Amino acid sequence: METVILNEQDLPRAAELLLSGELVAFPTETVYGLGADATNPKAVKRVYEAKGRPSDNPLIVHVASLEELSPFVKELPPEAKTLAEAFWPGPLTMIFEIVPGSLPMEVTGGLSTVAFRIPDHDLTLNLIKQAGVPLVGPSANTSGKPSPTSAAHVYHDLQGKIAAVLDGGSTRVGIESTVLDLSVPHPVILRPGKIVAADIKPLVVNFEEKENLPVENQPKAPGMKYQHYSPEVKVVMMPVGATNWSEAVAFYSDAQIPVGVLASQAIITELESLVCESYQLTVHDDVSEASQQLFAGLRYLDQIRPKLGVILVQSFPGEGLGLAYMNRLQKSADNCYFPEQ
Ligand code: TXA
Ligand code: MG
Repeated sequence: METVILNEQDLPRAAELLLSGELVAFPTETVYGLGADATNPKAVKRVYEAKGRPSDNPLIVHVASLEELSPFVKELPPEAKTLAEAFWPGPLTMIFEIVPGSLPMEVTGGLSTVAFRIPDHDLTLNLIKQAGVPLVGPSANTSGKPSPTSAAHVYHDLQGKIAAVLDGGSTRVGIESTVLDLSVPHPVILRPGKIVAADIKPLVVNFEEKENLPVENQPKAPGMKYQHYSPEVKVVMMPVGATNWSEAVAFYSDAQIPVGVLASQAIITELESLVCESYQLTVHDDVSEASQQLFAGLRYLDQIRPKLGVILVQSFPGEGLGLAYMNRLQKSADNCYFPEQ
């Protein structure tokens, strides 16, 4: 199958492809999603095949308005409306009890709950409206790889496996949505993102703030238990505020291991005299810029030839958006810090 790149003027074609059961990747404000008609079990099955995704890992359903949830959600908790008003369209996914049988079981991975979000990207909102059906949208990467933040990333992973990629440029947030479970008496964040606990707490009565727990210990979002965001090259984190970057680069270089550095401009400048490849994460130490660039940087350094042996990545304090940044980085590094133990 030839994968075509589509633009805004091709929206009708993209919608047609989706309605005929084909897969079309779409941009959102977070990362690119792999779109398929959520009401078509065959199409949804193809999403798992194209990504190589374990079948027990449920998908997020993307809609263009809150009203579209009613056939699928038993009882919309009052908080859901408040949260939707505050954050939709936007990087928040909410999980509800599903009306049994209302969506193919491939969407929910057999769970009794379903995840929804309204993405904040005009192109994709128009696509959903034109298709007239809700769209599943897992991140449009090969399972286990860093999520795609550009159409080129999607093409790299999925060319030949999907019908089309709708090109909406680079994504603004760069890491995936916050996943909030509203199907339980005490709503809880299952995956940290740009919308943080402090944003949610004032709006949800029984919200259980668990942000200090390692997210790995919260197996309720099945996706969180799998290996994730991993380039082929080994990733090693430098601790927050590390002052031993040149020591780290020298350590690997001395062992004949080619080094890549993913860090702020100041750190890269400091390492100029040493032999290493680099990708600028942020001009100053701005965690939102770093989050936007994290996956793009990992992908860039992973493709350098001859292959690097290690990628050293800057850490940020695990507060606010930094919690989501560190959650993704720790997974891609399999929790490995310099100096390695
Ligand atoms: O920002 C995002 O959320 C992107 C864009 C494309 O919308 N999508 C995304 O999808 O990150 P995905 O499939 O890569 O991650 C969805 C996460 C997984 O960890 C999955 O296990 C969890 O949400 N999830 C989905 N449905 C769930 C459910 N019913 N209960 C618990 N966790 C669920
Ligand atoms: Mg994903």
